[in-house]
Amino acid sequence: MKHLLKMLDLSTEEITEILDLADQLKYELKHNIPHPHLKGKTLGMIFQKASTRTRVSFETGMYQLGGYPLFLSSNDLQIGRGEPVQDTARVLSRYLSGIMIRTFEQQEVEDLAKYGDIPIINGLTDFCHPCQVLADLMTIREFKGSLAGLKMCFIGDGNNMANSLIVGCLKCGMSVSIACPDDYQPPREILDFAAGYGDKFEMVNCPKTAAKDADVLITDVWASMGQEGEAEKRKKAFAGYQINDELMTLAKADAMVLHCLPAHREEEITEKVFEAHAKEIFEEAENRLHAQKAVMVKLMA
Ligand code: CP
Ligand code: NVA
Repeated sequence: MKHLLKMLDLSTEEITEILDLADQLKYELKHNIPHPHLKGKTLGMIFQKASTRTRVSFETGMYQLGGYPLFLSSNDLQIGRGEPVQDTARVLSRYLSGIMIRTFEQQEVEDLAKYGDIPIINGLTDFCHPCQVLADLMTIREFKGSLAGLKMCFIGDGNNMANSLIVGCLKCGMSVSIACPDDYQPPREILDFAAGYGDKFEMVNCPKTAAKDADVLITDVWASMGQEGEAEKRKKAFAGYQINDELMTLAKADAMVLHCLPAHREEEITEKVFEAHAKEIFEEAENRLHAQKAVMVKLMA
């Protein structure tokens, strides 16, 4: 494993190794056991979109591993003024031990990996959010004991979160049911991948059908970063694609609920369901730290 660009690139074994290491690092942190695996290493963190969790968890995680994180806003980098990714990658490779990037186009992340010669970590693109889904899988395993055989249901937009969840959950032996409106389905590449899993994957319009007997229900915002201009149109398209009490009655009685955050209460999830499942949702947010530290150790130690 040289980079973390998308879940599609990871084998089941690599995912399991990351989750196991993440559990170990979480244990060590809670028990004040130092783990300076990245002493003397540097991580550049390029942000072309806003972030709370990704920025703070990578920055803190790098510090806890003995390394040094550099926050690089695209407003300040020449990349924000049009310097090509090919050149940025080759220059930064000479200063840094690794790069985390949050941007729009998946191709930009792939190009950084292609032209640079240091590990690249995708901190979210329009196509996927692998760091979040590794934390989600870690959280599901923590609450349920194992992953294989569980049913994950995703309600809403076929977006970066849906894409990574479909791939990550299927690779870990889970079945996946996604409910989304016709015009907001995941891209062909993801559906083709999922088709290889036969009846372990289903995509439907009706949230109630998707939620039936689910072990884990997950949703995300109706309008992602960069789609703010379409917010009103999306509110209409996604009306009814909400995790609420009625939907929860169809899932298993002990079903857990996850949300990558930030959440829009009374849109994709009701306040009531959100607060009833705050324990899982904020453990999920915490697990970003541990899962990403595991990724950094795997790639950069
Ligand atoms: N879930 C997530 O990636 O949060 P941020 O946008 O705050 O980083
Ligand atoms: N789908 C959301 C996820 C935020 C973490 C977005 O891209 O804005």
